[in-house]
Amino acid sequence: MAAFAGPDAYTANIAEVLLTEDQIRAKVTDLAAAVSRDYEGRELLLVGVLNGSAVFLADFLRALSLPAEIEFIGASSYGNGTVSRGECRLTKDLDRPIQGKHALVVEDIVDTGRTLAAIVACLRSKGAASVEVCALLDKPSRRAVELCPRYVGFEIPDKFVVGYGLDFAQHYRGLPYVAVLKPEAYESRT
Ligand code: IMP
Repeated sequence: MAAFAGPDAYTANIAEVLLTEDQIRAKVTDLAAAVSRDYEGRELLLVGVLNGSAVFLADFLRALSLPAEIEFIGASSYGNGTVSRGECRLTKDLDRPIQGKHALVVEDIVDTGRTLAAIVACLRSKGAASVEVCALLDKPSRRAVELCPRYVGFEIPDKFVVGYGLDFAQHYRGLPYVAVLKPEAYESRT
């Protein structure tokens, strides 16, 4: 597998920018305003899904106008490919009890919905006072299980996207926008 080298290593592989940095920033502000309004007076716990949600969660947390705790849960459904394997593995559990807290799962993208369905069930079983989902991106045409995020940033078509936390084979997470890769970028990496 060839290593990336040089400052343009990622951008050279971009076919199309789907969502710009400005569009994402404006949407994060709107989502945070809605959540701040809805959770006023409640103990809010943001549960970030590793690894993809780290970038979104960091911006979202700072855009909220109410106090919130954060926790992370780990899940894996893709390996190094671009198609969901149809199974979800929890790779990291929460570190603390969440009884009585209002959990808001913060996720980068909902695809089949399997990952979030498993996480929501897990948080409910741990006695959270409520469990809702805030996803930056949603591919509704791909849904395989019933999963309805309360907050969604953008609905996108059925394309594999990278950037703003989203990876292909663990790369591209640091791009500040959401993009589609050129076909050759997948070669030798799937
Ligand atoms: P689901 O369980 O099929 O809904 O898959 C959700 C997980 O798959 C997300 O947390 C992402 O990590 C990953 N994923 C889904 N679609 C994409 C994509 O277009 N690019 C990168 N990762 C994706």
